[in-house]
Amino acid sequence: MIIGVLGVGHLAAAMIAGLMKSGDRQTILLSPRGKSKELAARYGLEICVDNRELVERAEIVILAVRPADATAALEGLPWRAGQIVVSVCAGVALSQFPAIAARIVRAMPLTAAEINASPTVFYPEIAEARQLIARFGLAIALRNEDEFEVATVNAAIYGWAQDIVRQSVHWGHDHGADQQTMRQLVAQTFVAAGRMIAETAEPMETILKDLVTPGGITELGLEVLEERGQPAAWQAACDAVFARLTSVPKDRSGYVDEVEGAG
Ligand SMILES: NC(=O)c1ccc[n+]([C@@H]2O[C@H](COP(=O)([O-])OP(=O)(O)OC[C@H]3O[C@@H](n4cnc5c(N)ncnc54)[C@H](OP(=O)(O)O)[C@@H]3O)[C@@H](O)[C@H]2O)c1
Repeated sequence: MIIGVLGVGHLAAAMIAGLMKSGDRQTILLSPRGKSKELAARYGLEICVDNRELVERAEIVILAVRPADATAALEGLPWRAGQIVVSVCAGVALSQFPAIAARIVRAMPLTAAEINASPTVFYPEIAEARQLIARFGLAIALRNEDEFEVATVNAAIYGWAQDIVRQSVHWGHDHGADQQTMRQLVAQTFVAAGRMIAETAEPMETILKDLVTPGGITELGLEVLEERGQPAAWQAACDAVFARLTSVPKDRSGYVDEVEGAG
């Protein structure tokens, strides 16, 4: 499999790390610019002379430029039938891309692709794209692009979850706990919370109810959070991100640099 990466920045670096860990018998070609020199040196990868060479040689191309650069990056290149483009550009709809011979799939990996732990939504379902995306972590095909846009909000939730972990670790450290111990404890607690929901069939309300002892510490904390604006604050944040994603004009004429990035 010859994989081309067009746009070698932060997310591409995470995806390439994941690909290097998960694959053999693969060639990864990089577009020039960004972090391509650094990553080529780290992994022994080849940098193409230009994007034309990358498109000529790659079977599947990951498009990882910033959203405002996405449509222009595909223009004027020698795309061919049978080729696949996996765009990870947040908020850029399929209808905004130029008509090219290659098929375009949208995907939304998290930086956890670096450790092959990114649940990654994608649309439409195409077998070769799924094969590639599954190497970043759990590949989840969505039913349509509207659903993809809703699910893209999760890319921001990933960062908020990390921020809550960070804040909890600092709180513990400020109160005398060892920082490294707190880091492992809180991070693994979030993993545990996620796995309990992902890996059991119980309704989420039941799972939560089972752990909230009446008059206990979990209940106390939930009450304080509610007094201070939860879950309304969290839902408002989701609404704001969704509004940003869906306010970007979905045709090629009006795309503006409103969706700076998923991260
Ligand atoms: N960061 C995340 O966690 C995350 C998560 C999910 C999705 N995404 C999506 O991933 C995309 C990239 O985000 P990022 O954070 O990785 O951005 P980034 O670090 O700015 O990387 C984008 C790279 O694309 C390069 N580039 C732009 N146009 C190019 C072209 N025509 N040919 C070759 N290279 C080109 C830029 O090069 P220069 O530096 O030379 O301009 C830059 O290195 C965005 O669309 C974002 O929505 C990001």
